[in-house]
Amino acid sequence: MIIVGGPASNGIDEKLSEMLNVKLVKAEHKIFPDGESYIRIPESVRGEEVVIVQSTYYPQDKHLMELLLMIEAVKNLGASKIISIIPYLAYARQDRRFKDGEALSLKIVLNLIYESGSDELITVEPHKPDAVISYFKGNVKIVDPTPALAREIKKEVENPFVLAPDRGALERAERLAKELNSPYSHIEKERDRTTGEVRIKEAPHLDLHGKDVVLIDDIISTGGTLAQASQLSYNLGARKVIAAATHVLLVNDAYDKLTRAGIKSIIGTNTIKVENKNVKIADISDLIAVKL
Ligand code: R5P
Repeated sequence: MIIVGGPASNGIDEKLSEMLNVKLVKAEHKIFPDGESYIRIPESVRGEEVVIVQSTYYPQDKHLMELLLMIEAVKNLGASKIISIIPYLAYARQDRRFKDGEALSLKIVLNLIYESGSDELITVEPHKPDAVISYFKGNVKIVDPTPALAREIKKEVENPFVLAPDRGALERAERLAKELNSPYSHIEKERDRTTGEVRIKEAPHLDLHGKDVVLIDDIISTGGTLAQASQLSYNLGARKVIAAATHVLLVNDAYDKLTRAGIKSIIGTNTIKVENKNVKIADISDLIAVKL
């Protein structure tokens, strides 16, 4: 086995190489003057099982293109099998056509990865695992980041209550609650499919008095969802609110929005290169390593 580290591997390639005692080859990369991506694999991988590590966080399209080019180059060099580790899989939220005429982004992205030559895909908690499994024609392995997130969350809370910001995230909340040995529940969210705006509904049935509420989601993008969930949690009596998510994208002023909403701590994972040093990062490399 050989690991090929891409420009957006965020150090996970090096960690895997060390943990598994496997050779690491760094992909050479540059951008041509006209903006196109260039990739070269500088060593032979003939006959080897090759594990390519490349996340697809911002700028998503560039990182995705680099991934496809790495797969093509590795295949052309004669790898016997190609496994793509994509810690954050971009475009996963557009997993169906919410409105007529919309592109089914997840499907085309997964087709490109497969058709470029990737036999297997390993990714960390995509938005809807079943959609990834059904659209990727090769083998798919999903990494559950909960144990890594829980390790960090335990340092921040005393009397935890895990709260999912929508019904779809309830199963995730249940997994985390098991690790924290805490109660859990969910609230309800509506999203305007044109403006993208979210609205969290009232939840009079929930009593969060004295609780350290742990909001859990797969992605924090604009922060709108969790900011509203935090305000609601305080209205319901929460003592403190923290936020945890697998993929902390933190677009624009998301961090300020979350702190203004009273969120005391934000915990993410290294599927994304998070520039904001106040965000606590849980390493998921060991959870990926066991899938290889
Ligand atoms: C959507 O259903 C996802 O699970 C997240 O709740 C969403 O992507 C968060 O986005 P934002 O931070 O922009 O509210």
